[in-house]
Order: sequence, then structure tokens, then C-alpha cells
Amino acid sequence: MKVCIFKSSVEATHEAAKLFIEQIQRKPDCVLGLATGSTPIKLYKELIQACKEGKISFKRVKTFNLDEYVGLDRLHTQSYYRFMCEQLFDHVDIDKRNCHVPNGQAKDIEKEEQQYEAAIEAAGGIDLQLLGIGGNGHIGFNEPGCNLDCGTHLEALTQQTIQDNARLFFNGDEAQVPRQALTMGVGTILRARQCVLLAFGKSKQAAVQGMIEGPITKANPASVLQRHPDTIVLLDALAAEKLKKSV
Ligand code: F6R
Repeated sequence: MKVCIFKSSVEATHEAAKLFIEQIQRKPDCVLGLATGSTPIKLYKELIQACKEGKISFKRVKTFNLDEYVGLDRLHTQSYYRFMCEQLFDHVDIDKRNCHVPNGQAKDIEKEEQQYEAAIEAAGGIDLQLLGIGGNGHIGFNEPGCNLDCGTHLEALTQQTIQDNARLFFNGDEAQVPRQALTMGVGTILRARQCVLLAFGKSKQAAVQGMIEGPITKANPASVLQRHPDTIVLLDALAAEKLKKSV
């Protein structure tokens, strides 16, 4: 695991953007794993800008998102499919048929889990996976206590995640937040050829410290990235503050 600390989230984001731009330039038909949440929004803005300037094209790129809430319509204001359209897909030259987000409304969830994994495999596997981290150490929606080997699956959200994400729902109402999500598993994430994890701010300090310096444990699912052969962690100074060793 390579860890880089930047003065601000702007600089860390810029470094992540460089990695994504280089990946698309090197392999125009690459497969990207994408994340939602507040952390990657500025990164997506940089990718949109690079596309507008003709530095990259998404025409042959395929994307797979980490997760989706169960039960939300694709067009619900908080669905991750809609988030991706608003933050990236609608502003670049990507073919939406190449954009995959788990279907949280699938009638047969087990079939959806298998089809999602099969689609990733059929695309040739994920070249570059973007990750954020939850305040509790989750990656995707793999919550503390999860199985560290599994593929795409249904996960019950913890109370902390429900509370953290309520801010984005109408009136910040926790009751509106779905209780389950479909998520790539830790096993799926570990199969990506390269991972880039971004973490910013005080609320991520404990999770970041556990991920980098703690033991590999289900209590902090992100810690399993220590086993991944090519993971880059990009932090702002605040998120890195609890690290004991300077990296
Ligand atoms: C989102 C996802 C989550 C987020 C994490 C951090 O697709 O998989 O693991 O990356 O919850 O969220 P933010 O960026 O909102 O702090």
C-alpha cells in the first residue's frame, strides 16, 4: 500500500485525476471502478474538464460502480445511478450502455449479484478502482464485520452509515435512508488491478489509521487493502493526522 499525504484535498484530488487520465490515455477501452459520495465529486469535475479539452475520451471506457441502495428508483434524487449521471456520465462522451451500477430494484437480488460479477469478468476485470472510505472503515458498502472474501452481495447498512448518509436525504431524515445496499464485495475490490483510495477530513482519521497501521480485520474492512498488490492511498493532511509513522 502506497500512502501519499497532501496539504489539501484539492492536491490529493489532482493526483487521483492524473492517475485516471493516464489510465484512460494508456488504455482507451479500460474498465474503471467508480465510487459515489462527497469525496470523488471534484475528481469527476477534473475528468469532465480533461474530456472537454480533448485529453481523454470515454467513448470506449466501461465503468462499474461500487454500490447502490436497495429499493430506490434509479431516478430517485439519492440513487447512486442518478448521482453518477449528474456528476460524470451526462457530461462526458461515455456510452451509457457501458455504465454499470448495481440494480437495487432487482426482483431477484441473487441473480443481480451474479450478473454483476459476470459482467465485470466479461469486461476483462477492473483496471482501476476508485474508493472512498466510511468513518467506520467501510469500502463500497462492506460494513464492519463483513465477509472479507465475497463478491457482489446484499449488505445491511450499519447505524453509523445510515446516520452519516442521512445528511443527503430530504430534511436529513434518517428514516428516509434505505437499510440495505447492493455492493461489490471486498473480494471484487481486491481483484481490481489497481485501487486508488481517497480520504479527506477529520471524520476519516480513525478509519484511515486503522486501514494503514492496524491489523487486517473485519472491524475495519478497508484494512484488507494492505493485502492488495497495487493500492495508492491519497490523503489530505487532516485525514492523515492520526498516523503514527510518517509516510
Ligand atoms: C460510495 C461508497 C462509500 C463511500 C464512503 C465515503 O460509492 O462506496 O464507501 O466512498 O461512504 O463517503 P463520502 O465520500 O461521502 O465521505
